[in-house]
Amino acid sequence: MCGIVGYIGDKNITSVLLVGLERLSYRGYDSSGIAVISDGELSWWKRAGKIHELENTVKGLNIAGHIGIGHTRWATHGQPNEVNAHPHISGTPKVAIVHNGIIENYLDIRDLLISEGHVFQSETDSEVIVKLVEKYLAESTSLEHALELAINHLHGTYGLAALSETEPEKIVVCRKGSPIIIGLGDNENYVASDINAVIQHTKKIVYLDDNQIAIVERNNVRYKNVNGAFVEKTPQIIKWDSEAAEKQGYPHYMLKEIFEQPTVVRTILEKYVPSGNQIVFKDLRISPQIFKQLNRFIIQACGTSWHAGIIGKYLLESYARVFTEVDFSSEFRYRQMLTEGSEVVIAVSQSGETADTLACIREAKLHHFPILSFVNVKNSSMDRESDGVIYSHAGQEIGVASTKNYLAQLVCFLLFTLYIGRERGTITQEESDTLIIALQKVPEYISSILDKADQIKTIAEKYGFCREFLFIGRGLNYPTALEGALKLKEISYIHSTGYAAGELKHGPIALIDSKLPVVCICPSSKTYDKMVSNIQEVKARKGKTIVIATEGDTVIKNFADDVIYIPQMPEELTPIVSIVPLQLLAYYVALSLDCDVDQPRNLAKSVTVE
Ligand code: F6R
Repeated sequence: MCGIVGYIGDKNITSVLLVGLERLSYRGYDSSGIAVISDGELSWWKRAGKIHELENTVKGLNIAGHIGIGHTRWATHGQPNEVNAHPHISGTPKVAIVHNGIIENYLDIRDLLISEGHVFQSETDSEVIVKLVEKYLAESTSLEHALELAINHLHGTYGLAALSETEPEKIVVCRKGSPIIIGLGDNENYVASDINAVIQHTKKIVYLDDNQIAIVERNNVRYKNVNGAFVEKTPQIIKWDSEAAEKQGYPHYMLKEIFEQPTVVRTILEKYVPSGNQIVFKDLRISPQIFKQLNRFIIQACGTSWHAGIIGKYLLESYARVFTEVDFSSEFRYRQMLTEGSEVVIAVSQSGETADTLACIREAKLHHFPILSFVNVKNSSMDRESDGVIYSHAGQEIGVASTKNYLAQLVCFLLFTLYIGRERGTITQEESDTLIIALQKVPEYISSILDKADQIKTIAEKYGFCREFLFIGRGLNYPTALEGALKLKEISYIHSTGYAAGELKHGPIALIDSKLPVVCICPSSKTYDKMVSNIQEVKARKGKTIVIATEGDTVIKNFADDVIYIPQMPEELTPIVSIVPLQLLAYYVALSLDCDVDQPRNLAKSVTVE
């Protein structure tokens, strides 16, 4: 959470910092700030609110200087106001610090520093870092050394960038549990919390590891282990193009990403089923023997990725016949991790940086579980720390509400299930072939839903005034109900809950009256008849029903106020396609309420604090 950017070079400093922050704003957007050194003097500007508030402040100031750092914040400690915004600044000589992560022992450090005469301005945990640096700078020879002494006190996580008037030609960065990268340029260098901030300037990237420091100068970068020797680090050339970070004519990233979904499915099929019917996972790196003898998969993830994990469970249990647990990372991490020696832990994550999911991987490794990650962002921490990886190939996802990556994860889970099923002999080649052939039609099916965007918009506008929604589904489409409800609530702030339809009569049915819209995911499936009964139960209590049904289903019209049809397809594919109308429904409801679709309040794209 939060974004860091820094630059040393000849480009316009405010422009590099502000554009970088704008591109990082999906990581947090409640306040922002920059600090710049010009003629040896450090100046800074901070504002509460979105980045444009800061832009308005510095516009026309003609800020000179060739070195600076910036930060966009997602508040953890202290309100999102100007005082709590980063950078945090020390006394004289002036030092500026920007910080991502959480310092867990900040209250103890703060008390100690106050007893030594330091004065604090903010309510943040981060301010203790700048005060510690200030203290050690008075006794040490360099910013780098002062920072090393300071971080020795810190418990928790940090990605840090520091700038000091004492050494106005360098930015010092370090990390523990929160990413920092260095972008290498020609007579210029960049630092950032992720590549989005710098990818338009350079594709030559060095990933800092935990407990490493980098001293970044215009023509030189040195890397060292904290309190240790200097180390060599090899830059990687990143293939992502910065075009993907543009809206390309769409009013919002979310809408663009929803419309990219047919292409995403095609890309995944090209990558993993490159020829004929053989599924190939190049980066799996876990021996087939392990999968053959496996007793259990343990899937752990957060939010939308957790929903994809539940569908993964249904698929793996049905077709690969492997007992599969799914847990929230934030829970799994603190449970007893029991192993019999034949389990694989699967982490599911778009960003590859979610703190709880990453912490689970690290903990599970200590218990000797092999780790397989389903990840979108290449070179993310999970990518680098897992034994094997299945990339979701969704491309850059910027809208805070995850859409195309969820769908991509479902396709990857289906292919993975077929692969494991074949390895374990629980499905025949013919069964696998049939599903792969059916999957090839999914892009077409999704496009047919996208063509109904106007119909879905009309439905959204009809119900947009409602303050509560229920979503119900069964089997493979129970997680679709959870995900549909999450999409709606996170971007429209309407309270919405997903239920397994069979659970309705065990409590939630009490909520139903003529004002409650109930979104029912009811494609042709093994549980179709049961779903129809549940829909009738809703109708009998005057609830409003918006039904996702299969083309040709005329019966459903009798119980539906509105129907959105999806094409006929095998049941295994229905969660991949039926989520699309729900994404559009959420989008258009949020739009009708004038909500900030791409940057909903209180959220951030990448949740790097626990
Ligand atoms: C919701 C959403 C979040 C994320 C969750 C995990 O639209 O995006 O619920 O799914 O924060 O993030 P990743 O997948 O990056 O681990």
